Amino acid sequence: MRIALLRTDTTTQMSGLVVHQIWIDRLGATAGLSSSAKNTVGQANRGTPQSRSDRLLGCMLLLIAVAWNGPRQAVIAEDSGSGLSALVNLLSQVDDAGLHLDLLKGMHQALEGRRSVKMPDGWPAAFGKLAKSKSSAVRDKALELALIFGDMTAIEALQKTILDKTASADVRRRAIHSLTQAKVEKMSPLLQQLVSDRNVRGAAIRGLSAYADSKTPDVILQHYDKLNDAEKQDAIQTLASRPAYATRLLNAVEQNKIASRDVSAFTARQLQAMGDAKISARLAKVWGDLRTTSKQQKQLIARYKRIMTPDFLKQGDLRSGKALFKKNCLSCHMLYGEGGKIGPDITGSNRDNLDYVLENVLTPSTTVARDYRVTNIRTINGQLLSGIILAETNKTVTMQTVNQRVVIDKNDIDERRQSKLSMMPDGLTDKLSDEELRDLIAYLARKTPLPN
Ligand code: HEC
Repeated sequence: MRIALLRTDTTTQMSGLVVHQIWIDRLGATAGLSSSAKNTVGQANRGTPQSRSDRLLGCMLLLIAVAWNGPRQAVIAEDSGSGLSALVNLLSQVDDAGLHLDLLKGMHQALEGRRSVKMPDGWPAAFGKLAKSKSSAVRDKALELALIFGDMTAIEALQKTILDKTASADVRRRAIHSLTQAKVEKMSPLLQQLVSDRNVRGAAIRGLSAYADSKTPDVILQHYDKLNDAEKQDAIQTLASRPAYATRLLNAVEQNKIASRDVSAFTARQLQAMGDAKISARLAKVWGDLRTTSKQQKQLIARYKRIMTPDFLKQGDLRSGKALFKKNCLSCHMLYGEGGKIGPDITGSNRDNLDYVLENVLTPSTTVARDYRVTNIRTINGQLLSGIILAETNKTVTMQTVNQRVVIDKNDIDERRQSKLSMMPDGLTDKLSDEELRDLIAYLARKTPLPN
């Protein structure tokens, strides 16, 4: 999604302007603003002199941002100054649930991940009103926003929700994400308790990576066997997020409590990025060598080109190929409308071309667009995050890791390094037998989905 960043300094200048009805109509039409929203803007425009500039500011922000982003999209206020108060006041003044949602989404997007955002004066009143909204989407978003303002009622309400087994799993997972994203303190005992709850344990495990707590590795390892594939990846990612946890992860791999093939090439590289000599040495022992030279890569490609003859590929087991794709690739790539968005959608790519597939799968880091390079961020509380940068403002960095999207307050960043490596790790096939790679290639070469 395109993000419109409106800085308070620009908007302050604009507050001196009069918004003419013609502009309201024009921008409103471009933005697909409902007529009641347009009326609100019009009324605010004719408001009393004292409050007029404030309301005008809010309306300007709203109009420009919706016009910029297209219908029913986000409104972004980058600074928590007067722009934010104006938007909060606007929330109190209007009664249109659609407009409430637009405003809330925009403010949430602008403030997500930020710490210590001062609660605007008008917030308690606005929240009181929004909490009674008929629209559940409005109520949910208002809670998430309240969290960013450090509103205790919201924190307590969401903590109750995550423990409430009668609430829907989806709502509970979102509540976990919001609480941990807002870095609400002392959450780890609660999250550890939820690792045994099959409906929300993935989210709980992901959330745990944000908190340094020496009990976390034990809790995760105790439940590891019961986790499904995606949750196992979450577990391993969380264990790879701090040097102290990583040691426990390596112990578990050495003792065969965690299969070394469960540790993806991506995670292995993340462990290496910790820059801890002991961890790197142990990793090399249990996992194998991470660095392949270009000579080795050429030899590898040549070897597979020899083996993967048309006859051999014909014997490929498509079901097994599909399962391998699901396990190794789907979290990052869309295929036939399903999958992750970290890498490109490969539905339309040259999947039936052996050279293309081998080169992209075996040597992804040879040519990699800047947007896909991995950045490693270490936070001041010791969490290591590896992923691609999706967006950046002067206050926050939004990162996509292999298993979650996180917004990091720049004040929380201790160290940040961009690597030359692709987000798509090489060595993905190291753990596959020749037959398995054959199955995967045969499956990829199909131009239509495999019927169930
Ligand atoms: C951790 C995320 C991740 C995983 C897992 C992953 N990829 Fe990728 N892949 C990417 C990214 C990011 C790119 C684009 C950057 C690049 O080309 O290096 C990419 C590029 C590709 C391309 C080239 C696409 C293009 O349009 O140029 C192909 C083909 C591909 N991947 C196939 C696979 C297959 C097959 C697997 C599983 C064996 C896989 N990928 C696993 C992230 C991933």
